Amino acid sequence: MKKKSSRLEWKVAEKLSDLPKKDAKLLALATSSLENAYAPYSKFHVGAAILLENGKMLGGSNQENAAYPMCLCAERVALSAAASQYPKMLIKTMAITVKAPNQIVQQPAMPCGSCRQALCEMEFQQKKDIKLVIRGEEGVIYIFKSAKDILPFSFDATFL
Ligand code: THU
Repeated sequence: MKKKSSRLEWKVAEKLSDLPKKDAKLLALATSSLENAYAPYSKFHVGAAILLENGKMLGGSNQENAAYPMCLCAERVALSAAASQYPKMLIKTMAITVKAPNQIVQQPAMPCGSCRQALCEMEFQQKKDIKLVIRGEEGVIYIFKSAKDILPFSFDATFL
């Protein structure tokens, strides 16, 4: 049997001021967007912000429901806003941040599996990578050059 391996590279910014201006601005929009979360059940607020190719920025936040499985993640709310308001406009970057009810999240809060899959679908559709800028409430910021980087072995339309 052959042994295989893969390697993941990402950048770590120690503080906000180490980020390129555009990324810092997008993260600020993600932070203000999490104020609009409807999260009465988990009390965990997530904000996501998208930078489009035309420079426009769109925010999204998680929207929960008493029927728990219906909860919408911030990342997919933002992706749907971009796809429906600006169809065919390339998404360049998504910034994500969170605010938890009982702790200050000090490490980047990574998107759930479903959101990774949705981000990969968008990359597949637009044939361009989406940069991810991810932070907890405080602390270091992770920068991935593509959503594919955080969903290895992903399923996509090439299998269909
Ligand atoms: N949540 C997101 O918005 N994005 C993720 O990637 C993970 C989880 C939301 C869903 C739910 O409203 C709350 O965070 C707790 O899981």
